[in-house]
This record gives sequence, C-alpha cells and structure tokens, in this order.
Amino acid sequence: MENTKKLFDKYVLNTYTRVGPVFVKGKGSWLWDEAGTKYLDLFPGWGVSILGHCHPRITKVISQQAGKLIHLPNNLYFKEQAQLAEEIVNSSFSSKVFFANSGAEAVEGALKFSRLYGRSNGRYEVIVMKNSFHGRTFGALSATGQGKYKVPFKPLLASFKEARFNDFSNFKKKVTSKTVGVMLELIQGEGGVNVAQQEYIKEVKLYCEKRDLLFIVDEVQTGMGRTGKLFCYQNYGIKPDIMVLSKGLGAGVPISAILVAKEISDIIGPGMHASTFGGSPLVTRVSLEAFKIIKEDKILSNVRELSIYLLRRLGDFNRKFKIIKEIRGIGLMVGIELKVKSAPIFAQALKQGLIINSTHENVLRIMPALNIKKSELDKGLNILEEILTGNRLQGVKDMIPVT
Ligand SMILES: Cc1ncc(COP(=O)(O)O)c(C=O)c1O
Repeated sequence: MENTKKLFDKYVLNTYTRVGPVFVKGKGSWLWDEAGTKYLDLFPGWGVSILGHCHPRITKVISQQAGKLIHLPNNLYFKEQAQLAEEIVNSSFSSKVFFANSGAEAVEGALKFSRLYGRSNGRYEVIVMKNSFHGRTFGALSATGQGKYKVPFKPLLASFKEARFNDFSNFKKKVTSKTVGVMLELIQGEGGVNVAQQEYIKEVKLYCEKRDLLFIVDEVQTGMGRTGKLFCYQNYGIKPDIMVLSKGLGAGVPISAILVAKEISDIIGPGMHASTFGGSPLVTRVSLEAFKIIKEDKILSNVRELSIYLLRRLGDFNRKFKIIKEIRGIGLMVGIELKVKSAPIFAQALKQGLIINSTHENVLRIMPALNIKKSELDKGLNILEEILTGNRLQGVKDMIPVT
C-alpha cells in the first residue's frame, strides 16, 4: 500500500485529494483493498458504475469486443456506434447523436452547436445556473456556476450569464438579444443535489419555445436511469433541444454523447465537430449492453422501489438527527444537507467500510449502483446511522459548523 501511495505522490499530478486504502478489486456494490478488507460502495465511480463494479455482462462484452475491434476512426463505418445511436434516439427526444469521451467534452460540443444555431442572427450567450457544474475544460468551466473552480483560471469565456436556480423571474432578467439558450442540470449534483422544481422547468421551457432559445440539459449525472426514468427530463414532461450524457452511459468505460433535436442536426455538417476516440467500437458496444441490461433486468423499477425506501429511511434520520438540515433527491441520487461540514462524516464512513461522497461543503451524496440490493442499502444506512448517532451524542456544537 505504501508503495502505491508513494508512486502517486511522486509521479501523479496533485489535483485530487486522495484518501483511504489502495483498492484492488470490485464486484457489484463492493470494493476490496490490498489487505482484503471489504468496502460497501454507495457512490461507485462518482456515478459512473451504474451497474456496480465489474458487472459480469459488461466484463464479458468488453473482452469479446476487445478481441474483435477496439478502435476505428470516425471516417469509417462500424455497426457498434450506429446501433448505439439508434438505441439512444429511439429511447429519447433526439434526432441524432454525436459521441465523445467525457462529460466536459460533451458539454463543449453542446456549446459549439448552440453557437451554430445562433450564428445567423448573432446570438451566442448561454444562460447557466448558480451552483451548476459542467466540467473542467474552458467552455464547461466558464459555464459552471461555482467560483471556487474558476477563480485561478480567469479570464474565462465571457458568453455566459448566471441565473439563480429555480427562480424564473431571475432567469428572464438574464435574457438579452444575444441569448441563444439556457443550459442546466435538472438535479445539480456537484452543487449539492438541488432538484429543479417542476413548475420552474415548465416555465423556462415554455419561455424558450416562445423566443426560439435552446433548452440544453446536462444529464451527465442524472441520465441512464439514475432518477428512475431513463433520462431525468422525462420526470418533467418536457423535451430538451440538446442533452449531454456521460458517466453511466458506458457503465464504467469512458464515453459521452450529445443528443440533439432535429433543428440542430439539420444544421450540422462534416468538419464542424470531431473526436478521435469518440464512440469507438469498444465503448459503444459496452454502452449498448448497458442499455440492454437496464431493460432486461428491470433496473428502472429497482431504482424507483429502492428510492422510496431510501428516502423514507433518510426521512427518519432527518427527524432523529439534529445535524441534518434537509434530504433532497430523486431516484437513487440523494443528498443529505447537514448543518455541519460533511467531510468528517465521509472520512469516518470510509474508516467503517462505507464509501459515500461529500460535496458542496455540507452535503453527503449517495448515488449507489442502480442494481443495488435492499439489504446492501440497509447495511450502508446502518453504518451512516451509527456515525450520525455518535455525532448526536457528542452534540452539534462539537462538529465543525458550516461557514
Ligand atoms: C453534471 C455534470 N456535467 C459535466 C461533468 C463533467 O464530466 P467529466 O468529469 O466527465 O468531464 C460532471 C462531472 O461530475 C457533471 O456532474
């Protein structure tokens, strides 16, 4: 273990705060470290491993496809990408799809497409939300509504206007003659699991329709069944014009997609956008398998059932523990806002064999694999309850208050 940590310290750029042991193996909702200790992972891969670690069908399809065809450039035809695009189009609002590799890369593409859309009448500004998170590349970072990620890299792109989330009148105030669209997360993940209100989304969408503004949703975190629907926008009874997917799309392999409605696909032609690795036979075949598993194993029903259970148990926590301020979320994307800093609770959970996430200073985030079992969820919640009970005994005053 010491050796691996030393190698990280010496050779890997210091951009992450790494914690815990050295992990060597994963299966389903479980991880094992070098010493053979088992950990329950209620945040597998930051939302990537939607089918848990090393799902047998995903592992099998990776090895089969790796033995057949791994990569081809995008100026050649291959069936894996075409079939995945068909699957995505048939299960969403979209007319066509572009494949990339990461969430931020997909966001960049979506922003470029919005430029193409607004070009004929000089519109290029995009309204984004305070507390949003869209990635670390320049466009995506400029669109992100959290100063802490942006300050050291200024000046960033100036073509974004920040509006308050869930505040329609504030949104309207940000629209100018240069506005081409709005981009938002329906549930802000990194920003603390803030759920968009139904009425707000309907109002913004209607306003966009009336003024020919693009409605762009970032479903990098909420897509692929996370909220009990295949895509989160389906909870809102609206259709976006552009949507970006990543994380769970590849069930562990790096892939992202930009889904566009017909008015966008009609204006895009060869040479306008590209990605060398985007949509390779390997990752698109794996993603297609993930779609099949979601359907065949009735994953969405599991998410909906366990969500009711999870939110009920956390509701009990809320009544029991004074340090909890609010429980938020849809499906298996849940945030527990605390009145104290969340990092010490995350660290204690890790010590007790439970992996969750701490975000936005005082929010614990739980995003388990979508095929997790109720008994596994219970195990994790029991550990969390034990930790929160301990904190209650110490008293809120002993915890670090949120500044
Ligand atoms: C909503 C959202 N958009 C974009 C991104 C960026 O994705 P990536 O880290 O793959 O670039 C993230 C990452 O957490 C995200 O949560």
